[in-house]
Amino acid sequence: MRQAGRSLPEYRAARGPGSILDAIHQPELVATLTRQPVDRYGTDAAIFFSDIVVPVAAIGFGVDVAPGTGPVVEQPFRSASDLQRLRPLEPELDTPYVIEAVSILAESLDVPLIGFAGGPFTVGSYLVEGGPSKNFTRIKSLMLAEPALWETMVDRLTDMAIASLRSQLDAGASAFQLFDSWAGILSPRHYANLVLPATKRLFAEMRDSHPDVPSILFGVGTGELLPLMATAGSSVVGIDWRVPLGEARQRVRDDQAIQGNLDPSVLGAPWPVVEAETREVLREAGTAPGHIFNLGHGVLPETDPDVLQRVLELVHREGQAGRENL
Ligand code: CP3
Repeated sequence: MRQAGRSLPEYRAARGPGSILDAIHQPELVATLTRQPVDRYGTDAAIFFSDIVVPVAAIGFGVDVAPGTGPVVEQPFRSASDLQRLRPLEPELDTPYVIEAVSILAESLDVPLIGFAGGPFTVGSYLVEGGPSKNFTRIKSLMLAEPALWETMVDRLTDMAIASLRSQLDAGASAFQLFDSWAGILSPRHYANLVLPATKRLFAEMRDSHPDVPSILFGVGTGELLPLMATAGSSVVGIDWRVPLGEARQRVRDDQAIQGNLDPSVLGAPWPVVEAETREVLREAGTAPGHIFNLGHGVLPETDPDVLQRVLELVHREGQAGRENL
């Protein structure tokens, strides 16, 4: 559950005020925040409590995460001279708190821990746009007008993601997810030419260093991109609610699992509606193995935790029944 924690009263109580980056620097607190949704809901895995901008913030790019807004960048990336601000990530020196928190969790969690990193387009978009964006005009201009500069930038961001993911897996994470959340804003041609090559390299290098570790590639609004994303090399492809899972299966490879895809907004409806919609997701996923139930995107802050609890119970009950019928 991405950002599952923020809808929980115990999250708000433990996290305290201030930037989320302050919380992320405190390994014991991170371990507590990571465990909260698992303890409350009984999820089958935990997602590491961190953020996609942690590596770029750690090398001093000047990034903060503003409450209610998301990542904001003091001096956005605008030209080749900004490349000197994108030095390689050295996880032991730059993000020791990540390594420490993962180690604590690997020791103490009863479920697998999913580490993560931001995809190159999504992290790049924050750096170039300076914050959240609607049309992504600046980053698209940079990618198209200065392809050589973009290629260097995307390679550096990819190297940082690889270094961060490796450090999380070495510290005990069991799987990883690459969140290229905003890649769906790109046309298939632009995604294929400007983002997919680096994404393929990431999964190939991760496979070299950590063979057999399950990996998930996720983005929002990726319906048209799914056949391309399916070639990136992840073992699982995350699907948002816009594509029915039966259709999504056709768009990924036969040996890939799918993850998703209940519309997070549905959780605001009365229970009978939520129940019917959840059952529909399970029905669409079909009986073939290789479905990880999840929301199509992160939990909305106003979500009632009791509704999520009932969804989890329903999915576990149905999953159990499904296994018994196999
Ligand atoms: O469940 C979890 O808490 C997992 C940890 C997690 C966070 N961010 C913590 C967080 C994860 C996996 C992320 C990933 C992330 N961060 C993504 C990719 C996933 C996605 O949702 O598409 C993206 C795009 C970001 C950037 C970002 N950080 C956004 C868009 C926001 C939300 C701003 C808002 O409040 O609407 C953040 C802030 C953030 N990161 C929160 C949390 C729990 C929100 C609350 C807080 O600041 O405490």
